[in-house]
Amino acid sequence: MTLTDASARPTTQRAARPRTILMVPPTGFVVDYEINAWMDASVPVDTDRAVAQWQGLVSAYRAAGHEVHLLEPGEDLPDMVYAANGGTSAGGVFYTARFAHAERMGESALHEAWQRETGARVVVAQEVNEGEGDLLTLRDRVLAGHGFRTDPRAHAELAAATGLEVVSLRLIDPRYYHLDTALTVLDDVHGEIAYLPEAFDDESRAVLERLYPTAIRVAPEQAALFALNAFSDGLHVFHPAAATGYAEQLRERGFAPVPIELDELLKGGGSVKCCTLELRD
Ligand code: ARG
Repeated sequence: MTLTDASARPTTQRAARPRTILMVPPTGFVVDYEINAWMDASVPVDTDRAVAQWQGLVSAYRAAGHEVHLLEPGEDLPDMVYAANGGTSAGGVFYTARFAHAERMGESALHEAWQRETGARVVVAQEVNEGEGDLLTLRDRVLAGHGFRTDPRAHAELAAATGLEVVSLRLIDPRYYHLDTALTVLDDVHGEIAYLPEAFDDESRAVLERLYPTAIRVAPEQAALFALNAFSDGLHVFHPAAATGYAEQLRERGFAPVPIELDELLKGGGSVKCCTLELRD
């Protein structure tokens, strides 16, 4: 049995590891510009409902024993609720975000200031990257998306800053514009993932098949419900509630799916994982 041979792993061995998470309340959440295929500025947003649903995610994390820190959103930064894009905490450093779109550029400095206050070793990015939206960290490797937002040069920059292996994956479907919309890290220690094969080019698909032969392959209908925009602690997988088919696949592999209602935030093109920035020592 190899470390990547997920199906051979007795599922009873699954265990949650407590995480430290940074989140940003959606108190200023609206959709008044469109920078991804899901955003439609003509559809009204219920900000109070977004806050209430987001609070549900915070409560679910805390109930599972995770430590949630909060960062207040800056003014006129309606997308800042998607905290995952605020940077990448990996390999002992915090690698700052550098947003692709002008509308979000102001978020980066607020995240950086918070990290500096907490004593993190900050590496300021020179290359365009949208944090954990595209840079998903496992124990000894970062899976790194490009094609829509993050510049592949940022992958090299992150590898140099952390010493971690960075595996570049090219996204080809505009609905899955960040890696965290097309792939979930389910077990960062043993290297288990789920993904939507159709979201990647042929070469990247081959890389994923080689590195993760027993990965969960998710159906397009499930991915379209934002199924893969989920966060796992190694046992519990917090996922968009509508994705019941994905939950069934997770259960078959011994994970404990935790459905989260977060559809108001789908109007901005994000869900559970987008709202979750994991902080690592
Ligand atoms: N409206 C935001 C954008 O287009 C959504 C970001 C979603 N975040 C994520 N980690 N996928 O940038």
